[in-house]
Amino acid sequence: MKERLLQYLQCPACGGAIEIESVRQRESGEIMEGNLSCRAGGHHFPITRGIPRFASLDSVAEDKAATAANFGWQWTHFTQADERYAEQFLGWIGPVQPEFFKDKVVLEGGCGKGRHTQLAAGWGAREVIGIDLSAAVESAFAATRELENAHVVQADIYHLPFARCFDYAFSVGVLHHLPDPRGGFKSLAAKVKEGGHLSAWVYGAENNEWITRFVNPLRTSLTSRINPRALLHLSKLPTALVYLATKLVYRPLNAIGNGAVAQHLFYNDYLKAISGFGWREQHTIVFDHLVAPTAFYISRDEFAEWWNDIGARDVQISWHNKNSWRGFGRIG
Ligand SMILES: C[S@@+](CC[C@H](N)C(=O)[O-])C[C@H]1O[C@@H](n2cnc3c(N)ncnc32)[C@H](O)[C@@H]1O
Ligand SMILES: [Zn+2]
Repeated sequence: MKERLLQYLQCPACGGAIEIESVRQRESGEIMEGNLSCRAGGHHFPITRGIPRFASLDSVAEDKAATAANFGWQWTHFTQADERYAEQFLGWIGPVQPEFFKDKVVLEGGCGKGRHTQLAAGWGAREVIGIDLSAAVESAFAATRELENAHVVQADIYHLPFARCFDYAFSVGVLHHLPDPRGGFKSLAAKVKEGGHLSAWVYGAENNEWITRFVNPLRTSLTSRINPRALLHLSKLPTALVYLATKLVYRPLNAIGNGAVAQHLFYNDYLKAISGFGWREQHTIVFDHLVAPTAFYISRDEFAEWWNDIGARDVQISWHNKNSWRGFGRIG
């Protein structure tokens, strides 16, 4: 933990200021082992392996812990980087562009292995703080510790340990996995300063009936319940189908005649979007779809209500890859 993270922290239990209580180990500018506390309420939070811990899987409700445990396994296994992450990320947070991050204090809700925290830091954010509930924070810390302006915190999105201090907050692929997606969205929005901005990307209900009807029953009754290592192997079969289809059919057909023929293919926009990824990344994507115990598919109307609820202005909601919704708006 870099000491200047302190200015943004606030006790998630009582809202008091957070101080360093003790330091047992420092390593190249980071507090690796120690304790934080709030003087006002007498709450204590450990720093272990360089990460301040405001929540743990033992301290949250079972449904939240089950989702985070599975994703924790995913992001500590699939730690690879891919040069296509930047383009993919910009697709999820559009219309936001890299320049938008310049000099902003940014919060990422559910950072996974930290790939987007890393990008935001590289695009000139003043500070970017990635939070996640799961063991994914270990990977995120390893991926970002060399970056002066990047911080990783273990926390629950519903109990964020920050003041209302952010110029921009974003959350990609997280809210639909929460037991109460709208509640998570509101909690994130509440940390954005008046005049600041928020981005969120969620699975769409529209055009995903084949998933909700056929894949979801399999996910909830089998694939999210088995040992992740077993799922790792089991998911190689659907990955092989996706891999062959994208490499042999979708990619070549989209490359000819401006995609005139390809546009008639099943789920073309999405499969085209992932067709440039290699085996490992496609395996990560397929595994990701099968591992989560909780996944909601959200309609445009419902998503629009979330933005209304928080009183956001200039809201832009757009249909991404014809299977998901991305939103961007101004707070206050
Ligand atoms: C599909 S992953 C997306 C990670 C990252 N945004 C990305 O796109 O690479 C969902 C992430 O949400 C995290 N998560 C789930 N429940 C959470 C909660 N209650 N608070 C914070 N993070 C949570 C999981 O641990 C997981 O890392
Ligand atoms: Zn406190």
